[in-house]
Amino acid sequence: MHPNTHHSVPPHAAVVGLQWGDEGKGKIVDLLTSRYDCIVRYNGGANAGHTVQVGTERYALHLIPSGILSKGKINIVGNGVVVDPEKLLDEVDGLRKRGVHVGENLRISDRAHVVMPYHKEQDAALEELLEKKSGKLGAGQIGTTRRGIGPAYSDKVRRSTALRMGDLLDHALLLRKLETICGLRMAELEALGANVTPLVPRELADRFAAAGERLRPHITDTVYLVHDEIRAGRHVLFEGANACLLDIDHGTFPYVTSSNCSTLGIPSGSGVPGRMIGKVYGIMKAYSTRVGGGPFVTELLNETGERIRKRGREYGTTTGRPRRCGWLDLVAVKYSVMVCGADAIACTLLDVLSGFDELKICVGYQRPDGTITDRFIPDAERMTGFTPVYETLPGWERELTACTDRDDLPREAQSYLAFVEKFVGIPVELVSVGPERTQTFESNQRFASMA
Ligand code: GDP
Ligand code: IMO
Ligand code: MG
Repeated sequence: MHPNTHHSVPPHAAVVGLQWGDEGKGKIVDLLTSRYDCIVRYNGGANAGHTVQVGTERYALHLIPSGILSKGKINIVGNGVVVDPEKLLDEVDGLRKRGVHVGENLRISDRAHVVMPYHKEQDAALEELLEKKSGKLGAGQIGTTRRGIGPAYSDKVRRSTALRMGDLLDHALLLRKLETICGLRMAELEALGANVTPLVPRELADRFAAAGERLRPHITDTVYLVHDEIRAGRHVLFEGANACLLDIDHGTFPYVTSSNCSTLGIPSGSGVPGRMIGKVYGIMKAYSTRVGGGPFVTELLNETGERIRKRGREYGTTTGRPRRCGWLDLVAVKYSVMVCGADAIACTLLDVLSGFDELKICVGYQRPDGTITDRFIPDAERMTGFTPVYETLPGWERELTACTDRDDLPREAQSYLAFVEKFVGIPVELVSVGPERTQTFESNQRFASMA
């Protein structure tokens, strides 16, 4: 019998970040993978960095679903992802070198858009231009990962300058398209003040057709593939990249990424109707972090923030940048739960909060005029000057990394989770107390009912 029939878990589920990324989605997907047959990425690109620790081995996945580390699973890079083919090949080679099988278990949509070198140049050039202009991160400059994500999605929407993975399999077609693209792109790069190295259509066509040849066995129509699997009774887990508050439509615009990274991106980014997803796991770290610019009401620019950063090793998986750290913002989390339709929370990095006398949780925002709201505003401009309204909870001293059960947690940690459940209105079903696979436990009983 399939494991899901034991757990009465709906057959298809999603894992999504409820904050600004790096909540530990990779770890939770790796953990849940045993109950599913196909793991599907539906958005983002190599801006994502999902860390999975198995024993002492640490893997950082950027484009390949975290299910690749488990045997016998189909890992799908859906049409909503933007793929940097050379980065993807590096990732494949890196995994194989470490003994991870990558073959028929990796499938890439022929409709996924391609991230080209000029997209990365455009991304960096625009960031540098904005930096020069404003001189300050968050004053216009987004603080992107410079992985070419925005420019690649821009081309997708512009259509006539876009390349899709299927195009890499036809050299003549690729060359024809690049002949149109290159001249225009050089002019655009020049307008951004970039150092333009000439873009030679034939060179790019040769280089990317070669990457296409290596990827050919993996490239397919993943929409039919995933529906064939579903019809055959297989179970699908969707792996969100980035996070709800970075969603292009529902995040802290313009300090967001360029895709629908909430669960709302699943239907368009995978070809699977939203109503087929029976369960949404919202991943929430026990405090808040954010990389790059943009509003962050609970940010701690002090020793406490530094302490969280050190204990949580809060440095980017993709860019190595120190992450901005702050207290848990439940106004933001509750908003993400609403937008994503989350059914349950997986609370990660709870162990990082050991050793604080007291912990603060944001339950409202005070506007500059002194009035208070419990609503999130997905617009950076309109969140200017907001300050947090906190509830203060008692902290706990003990390290949690060896806890294997909710009863093992200090009473204060149980109350912390109970507070979350009560405020947000959904149960905390999974608790993570360390990076390793085994440092996680399920909580079938609501913490709120125990408090
Ligand atoms: P993702 O992008 O959401 O997959 O998250 P990242 O991998 O970028 O960042 C999460 C980091 O926290 C990684 O280094 C994980 O190994 C680590 N991690 C995940 N869960 C826990 C946890 O419960 N405790 C601790 N201390 N680290 C964790
Ligand atoms: P995972 O999947 C954290 C942020 C960037 C920047 C903004 C736009 O690991 O949680 P982009 O390069 O996408 O145009 O950058 O979005 N960002 C992330 N921050 N984790 C991520 O992914 C992110 N993906 C994008 O830091 O502020
Ligand atoms: Mg990450």
